[in-house]
Amino acid sequence: MKKMFFGLLVLALSAVVLSACGGSAAATEIPAVPAEYAGAANPLGADAATAGAEVFKTNCESCHGPQGHGDGPAGAALDPAPKNLPELAAQVSDDYLYWRINTGKEGTAMVAWKGILTDDQIWQAVAFIRTLK
Ligand code: HEC
Repeated sequence: MKKMFFGLLVLALSAVVLSACGGSAAATEIPAVPAEYAGAANPLGADAATAGAEVFKTNCESCHGPQGHGDGPAGAALDPAPKNLPELAAQVSDDYLYWRINTGKEGTAMVAWKGILTDDQIWQAVAFIRTLK
């Protein structure tokens, strides 16, 4: 009887732990843009997306795929996999994309492009991502 009680206690405890972990769905929530980048707006004109297509093809497509769906050959083995960019872009504004491309994403294969790409090239990539479906 004592053993059974103990077993039930373990079950109850693991239910608590499991539901607490379920709460970590917050990890997939979209974080706030840091102050340094918040509100940044694309300073480039309407043709930026055309240049951005080139920037994307050269630097991003290998992982994110030609349409940004996260299906590039170099991304196949990554964990987490490269983001589906049109899906993300529908949920965030330009300052978010600009921030992430500049600083990368800790714990993933997404590196910081600041210093590799010029500021204009990063905004061009943002403009191109906006054209993806
Ligand atoms: C080596 C593979 C790789 C390359 C190259 C790469 N990315 Fe990524 N990217 C990733 C991975 C992995 C993530 C993280 C996905 C996640 O967190 O779920 C990511 C995430 C992102 C995100 C979203 C970050 C977020 O908030 O979740 C954006 C935007 C992005 N990449 C844009 C770009 C752009 C633009 C380029 C080219 C300048 C680029 N990436 C190049 C692998 C790559």
